Amino acid sequence: MSRKPLIAGNWKMNNTKTETIKFLDSFLPKAKGLSVDIVICPPFTNLFAAAEKLEGTDVKLGAQNMHWEDKGAFTGEVSPVMLKEIPCDYVIIGHSERRQYFAETDETVNKKIKSALQHDLLPIVCVGESLDQREEGITMSWIMSQVENALKDIPSQELEKIVFAYEPIWAIGTGKTASASDAQEVISAIRKKIAELYCSDTAEKVRILYGGSVKPENIKELMQEADIDGALVGGASLKPDSFYALCTFNL
Ligand code: PGA
Repeated sequence: MSRKPLIAGNWKMNNTKTETIKFLDSFLPKAKGLSVDIVICPPFTNLFAAAEKLEGTDVKLGAQNMHWEDKGAFTGEVSPVMLKEIPCDYVIIGHSERRQYFAETDETVNKKIKSALQHDLLPIVCVGESLDQREEGITMSWIMSQVENALKDIPSQELEKIVFAYEPIWAIGTGKTASASDAQEVISAIRKKIAELYCSDTAEKVRILYGGSVKPENIKELMQEADIDGALVGGASLKPDSFYALCTFNL
């Protein structure tokens, strides 16, 4: 089973509208005809401007979060209907920064995934352990419960649309990457878990990314692992040159 690699740039709270346009003017002309799927996830305020620039290109647009309801009294939130109208293709769900600073739980992550799927948005679902959890030796059980809770009541025909991202919290923005073999170990366990919850055919179709200090210098080694299907990249996705280098790791 060959899964198409996916490189997603999570800009977090970086880049203004002007900077977004500048980035895309520099990046898009080079990014034609690449053999990987590319997704850029700018802040909400830049999604419309980015969508205009991305029209007619192969680069997809993603949001960094959403509410699960279509509309209502949720001050400061953005709904899947609003994202779809932009149009966004993807949405990051359950990033560790959302879980840590904005009280997202496995339960809200599950609600958001179901809502994204209903609205035809492709969820990039983040899971990952803290340094304490890794040192305690509970990485696997923690990640497997995050995966199982994320997928609660989600039917197997929807699984192909879900992308997982394994992002060890201690590797995010720290310059410390999990070794390729450590990342492979967790990611292959996630695939086994999906096979156990659904079936191996389904599990073989789901793309699972690694995230956490991915850079042009380490992406090749990570991508050589059998189960790592791409990367969710923060810092190194902010500059057109390094993001382009990441998207061309296989050239
Ligand atoms: P980083 O962030 O590449 O800056 O470590 C990754 C992420 O948080 O998605």
